[in-house]
Amino acid sequence: MKSIRKAVFPVAGMGTRFLPATKASPKEMLPIVDKPLIQYAVEEAVAAGVTDLIFVTGRGKRAIEDHFDKAYELEAELQAAGKVKLLKEVRGLLPAGVNCVYVRQGEALGLGHAVLCARHLVGDEPFAVILADDLIDAPVPALKQMADQHARNGASVVAVQDVDRSETGAYGIASVKPAKGRLARMTGIVEKPKPQEAPSTLGVVGRYVLSPRIFHHLENTPRGAGREIQLTDAIARLLEEEPVFAYQFEGRRYDCGSKLGYLEATVDYALRHEEVAEGFRDYLGRRLRAGEGAR
Ligand code: G1P
Repeated sequence: MKSIRKAVFPVAGMGTRFLPATKASPKEMLPIVDKPLIQYAVEEAVAAGVTDLIFVTGRGKRAIEDHFDKAYELEAELQAAGKVKLLKEVRGLLPAGVNCVYVRQGEALGLGHAVLCARHLVGDEPFAVILADDLIDAPVPALKQMADQHARNGASVVAVQDVDRSETGAYGIASVKPAKGRLARMTGIVEKPKPQEAPSTLGVVGRYVLSPRIFHHLENTPRGAGREIQLTDAIARLLEEEPVFAYQFEGRRYDCGSKLGYLEATVDYALRHEEVAEGFRDYLGRRLRAGEGAR
């Protein structure tokens, strides 16, 4: 069975939920403590064995390319100042043997369209899609869990988690055959259904391992929810042809596309960050004891 070598990162989105912070800088560069969201996503891909990182970018996303590029001046300055640890961190953002490619999504036609823009770079092999604003904290990186499933059954795997019925309108929602473990055969999927119309409460989280056949369906998918070309709609067609599995990953997902999810991630990651954990824990304790009105 082929392993997953390529991952697509759709990063062309406008990030309107974080304006004005995202007016001039990409939402994927928002940091959780000291690392941008896109860095967490890339590390997860690399941990799953991915070597080719394909970023589907758009206007105003140059900072992402710069982030993964070599920064000669910065490195020279850190070297001259003897800041060895920082230098190592800056140099180690991408391990040796991992390559980045960038392709532009010229028009904002949705997630499905973004993935389609990577077709010529992916070619005819199974690949991963990672949405960086879904940050997943897991004992085994979520994409690695999915790649392992894929290695066993060779089929497409979509990450899901149980969501509140009131929130189905924010997710792709999957229907599945009854299953015992974390993996279930998908029987249907719809994008952002109203709670009363949702076929289940299994919400898609931004991790996919997809068969290259998805490109055929993306090409033939008309605009759907929000007048965008939806990846969900193409998956709905794919599963009529080939098995697609919904996988309830082990781990916690933070919706860093929302302010609350972003703040939750920031607090949790800070509480175990080697440099700030202690001081931050003390501060939080004092802050909570002082009560809500205190400053
Ligand atoms: C996208 C997908 C949706 C999925 C979600 C996960 O929606 O279209 O199916 O559930 O990501 O984060 P978006 O959040 O980009 O609107």
